[in-house]
Amino acid sequence: MSKNFRVLAAVTLAATLAAASGCSSSRDSDDSSSSSSSNLVGIAMPTKSLERWNNDGANLDALLKKAGYETSLQYADNKVDQQITQLQNMINLNPKVLVVASIDGTALGPVLEKAAAQKIKVIAYDRLINSTANVDYYATFDNYQVGKLQGEFIVEKLGLADGKGPFNLEPFAGSSDDNNAKFFFSGAWDVLKPYVDSGKLVIPSGKKLASNDDWKNVAIDGWTSQKAQSEMDNRLNSFYTGGKKVDVVLSPNDSLALGIEQSLESQGYKPGTDWPIITGQDADLANVKNILADKQSMTVWKDTRTLGEQVSKMVDQIIKGETVETNDTSTYNNGVKVVPSYLLPPVVVTKDDVKTKLVDSGFYTADKLGL
Ligand code: GAL
Repeated sequence: MSKNFRVLAAVTLAATLAAASGCSSSRDSDDSSSSSSSNLVGIAMPTKSLERWNNDGANLDALLKKAGYETSLQYADNKVDQQITQLQNMINLNPKVLVVASIDGTALGPVLEKAAAQKIKVIAYDRLINSTANVDYYATFDNYQVGKLQGEFIVEKLGLADGKGPFNLEPFAGSSDDNNAKFFFSGAWDVLKPYVDSGKLVIPSGKKLASNDDWKNVAIDGWTSQKAQSEMDNRLNSFYTGGKKVDVVLSPNDSLALGIEQSLESQGYKPGTDWPIITGQDADLANVKNILADKQSMTVWKDTRTLGEQVSKMVDQIIKGETVETNDTSTYNNGVKVVPSYLLPPVVVTKDDVKTKLVDSGFYTADKLGL
């Protein structure tokens, strides 16, 4: 873990030890369950245009209904104002708990103040909510580990630890408004940067990435495939002339990887011939098919069913006034406080274990993958 994170962890740990007693958010002192008489849980998802959130929303909604709760599930088309309005409308319904997968984690302070005034508890879902005290818990996958797995995969595939190289690398990062994106990038860059420094990895596009804090220099806002495709087109056209080839692409997730793969295809790269190593995340359907077609090397799978189960359990514990289960009370300082968190393990999936991991677990049917 980089120096910044160690410093951050040290500061937060001190704060946590001061704050933590059993695992309850600091706003519990007055009443562990919301004053709302309703049995309602509000679920705010960022968008339907990025595949996984459709699964997340539908899955959590079904689990909470099965647990006997009413739900209000809203998608915000990746528009921050729309999400704020949706949250305000939910708050007007006086739910017990709000579960929020934020678009821009720094933009929700004012509306969550209104939730706090009504003693509505807030769980940040997958993405941390920043710069406010009015978030009680955070449930996600280990975001730093996602990036670390992508970085380690590249090192192993290229034989970098055995001194192989130099190789041409093109790094990408996620949306600049997504708190997760810096963790993904830092996890990967902490593994890869030593090889960039030693010259075993070269970045022909010349992107300045002197430290993890430079991640926004390669951010793709909104996580869209289109923006990733045009960015890759630009890099290939500008910096890969005279037969120069890209050997490896660090893509933080599958929606970006899909755009990058479309760019490579349009530029004449051929799987099995000169196709580069490409990383991903989320096990989106099109990308798993690309993995089976040797157009993507791996994806970091985050079984969204397990996140839904964990969050529905936390909602239940909050509403019943029980101690809420967390397993990390140091990593995620949102700038105002350390948010008690539950981190789930991400898993690498390659062509060799698509069946055992994604089909045998029921995440996809063999039929859906064309297997
Ligand atoms: C991140 C999320 C990833 C990916 C990305 C784009 O916050 O953790 O799984 O889906 O957003 O939606």
